[in-house]
Amino acid sequence: MKPMIEMQQVSKHYEGAQAVHALRDVSFSVAAGEMVAILGPSGSGKSTLMNLLGCLDTPSAGRYRLDGQAVERLGEKELSRVRNRTIGFVFQSFHLLPHLTARENVELPLLYRGVGETARRRLAQESLRRVGLQDRMDHRPAQLSGGQQQRVAIARAMAGEPPLLLADEPTGNLDTAAGRDIMRLLTELNQSGHTVVIITHDPRIGAACPRRVTIEDGRLREG
Ligand SMILES: Nc1ncnc2c1ncn2[C@@H]1O[C@H](COP(=O)(O)OP(=O)(O)O)[C@@H](O)[C@H]1O
Ligand SMILES: [Mg+2]
Repeated sequence: MKPMIEMQQVSKHYEGAQAVHALRDVSFSVAAGEMVAILGPSGSGKSTLMNLLGCLDTPSAGRYRLDGQAVERLGEKELSRVRNRTIGFVFQSFHLLPHLTARENVELPLLYRGVGETARRRLAQESLRRVGLQDRMDHRPAQLSGGQQQRVAIARAMAGEPPLLLADEPTGNLDTAAGRDIMRLLTELNQSGHTVVIITHDPRIGAACPRRVTIEDGRLREG
């Protein structure tokens, strides 16, 4: 399998009155088609790692290849291009725009990418169908349950067919049943070929993934 994520000895320091070593010598590889949970307590470095994996920030030291491309030295513009092409993001709090319908929310990133109206609508409808929301396309977020809102967010993340889905606490705002439902959906997406990386402090989410790594005090280990 070709590697999707290859981090070698990545460190991240935050400067300031007190320098913080948020990540120390992290080496982490994920093959294309894998599904992995990154576990760790609060303050362990999960969000820092998520920001680096997602090309939202760059490491202080070390190397990172994403889908075959070295990204540790790229500037903001190039990073955003890599990000748009490679990664679908899912967040704990859905990040849907309240005044837009489900379909319009899913269409928005396609609009930013310059996809024309007809193709945009078709891709958004296909993506919403894939997450089981074919009969909710014209609903606004407030008219949907939390689990349904997260499905819209997943449809939005996947509409441009990015190879990697990066989810930060995707079930953190959901009750147990809705959380299980979202994990089933992420597993289905993984089985259809997408690489899925889930960041969570919830051991139950970890248990639902075929591979787990744990981060503690900025250091990463398997298991
Ligand atoms: N922008 C920042 N500036 C300074 N310190 C930070 C910043 N972001 C995070 N940290 C520190 O880095 C460590 C890891 O934080 P974080 O990655 O947010 O952990 P987690 O997501 O696991 O809770 C913590 O000690 C936190 O206080
Ligand atoms: Mg965090």
